[in-house]
Amino acid sequence: MPIDIVTAYLAPEGLVHPLVQELNGETAVHGRLVLSPLAAQKAHWAENVWLAPKKIPVQSISDAARKLKALQRNWWLYSFHLHRRAALIQEQLPHVSARPLFFPAPLPASPLGSWTLLDAHTLLASARCTSPFPNGTVNFVEDREGPPSRAYLKLWETWTRFQRHPRPGEFCLDAGGSPGGWAWAAAALGARVLSVDRAPLAPKVMSLPGVSFQKGDIFSLKPETLAGREPVVHWLLSDVICYPEKLFDWVVGWLESGMCENFICTLKFQDGANYAIANRFADLPGGQVLHLYYNKHELTWVRLAPAPTSDTVSGT
Ligand SMILES: C[S@@+](CC[C@H](N)C(=O)[O-])C[C@H]1O[C@@H](n2cnc3c(N)ncnc32)[C@H](O)[C@@H]1O
Repeated sequence: MPIDIVTAYLAPEGLVHPLVQELNGETAVHGRLVLSPLAAQKAHWAENVWLAPKKIPVQSISDAARKLKALQRNWWLYSFHLHRRAALIQEQLPHVSARPLFFPAPLPASPLGSWTLLDAHTLLASARCTSPFPNGTVNFVEDREGPPSRAYLKLWETWTRFQRHPRPGEFCLDAGGSPGGWAWAAAALGARVLSVDRAPLAPKVMSLPGVSFQKGDIFSLKPETLAGREPVVHWLLSDVICYPEKLFDWVVGWLESGMCENFICTLKFQDGANYAIANRFADLPGGQVLHLYYNKHELTWVRLAPAPTSDTVSGT
């Protein structure tokens, strides 16, 4: 029997399994879209969550377009079958730009709904979704000259999603920074970066103003060692390839030190991994765990200092 649909979760390409695993209750899977009869729940692996999906009977392609437009202006299709029919409906809807963004970019100003065809005569449409981006996809115009790896796209995505990034002069500790994509991205914003890795940075990153490098094991770098040199870590960035459990213990030490303002850490999983550690990161106060479009078999833990209020900024 089909389930009542109360929420829907869109999994990243190839990652339906961990998403289904983390959701409570029965689910129905259509391509990458996972339907649930339960209210919105924690879903680290979802690229987008449809918060208010409605089943809408439709007579024809134009009837479907009319009914969607009556709900709101902007819609994005997720198509898992009946592709031709779905595309014909989408063509009758107002154009929504999915052009790649130039970093830094603001968030899209207008809400974006998501819809699909459950069958030829039934839409599933949600005017409210967690992501303002088409199917949760944040695409950037890439810099193919400056950075030595594409890993910087994870930072660009996080900084864009939260509309926060390092400011000129802020200090970033870049754990597992080789070959230097993250250091390049932070230095390009005028931040000072200390990258720590067993492998060196690419020479073109090493020579950037504000970038320094320390060879070695990041897990042996403790807050008290750095404190004499840099009392405040404005951004603790980690892209270290390691067991997330090991990263957790290290990060907790930095959290407890009170020296760090903002954290962005990649949690890397092996196939068949136990994802329970993601909940331990998510439970750290003030943080959240999410799957970025530019993450592969990874999650990202983000914990930002409270945003400065306008009073703080103006000093009044
Ligand atoms: C995915 S790469 C980082 C890519 C980098 N963020 C960039 O933007 O180019 C992961 C790095 O973690 C480093 N790594 C793994 N274990 C480490 C450890 N214990 N200490 C320091 N670096 C480590 C590896 O040497 C590797 O360079």
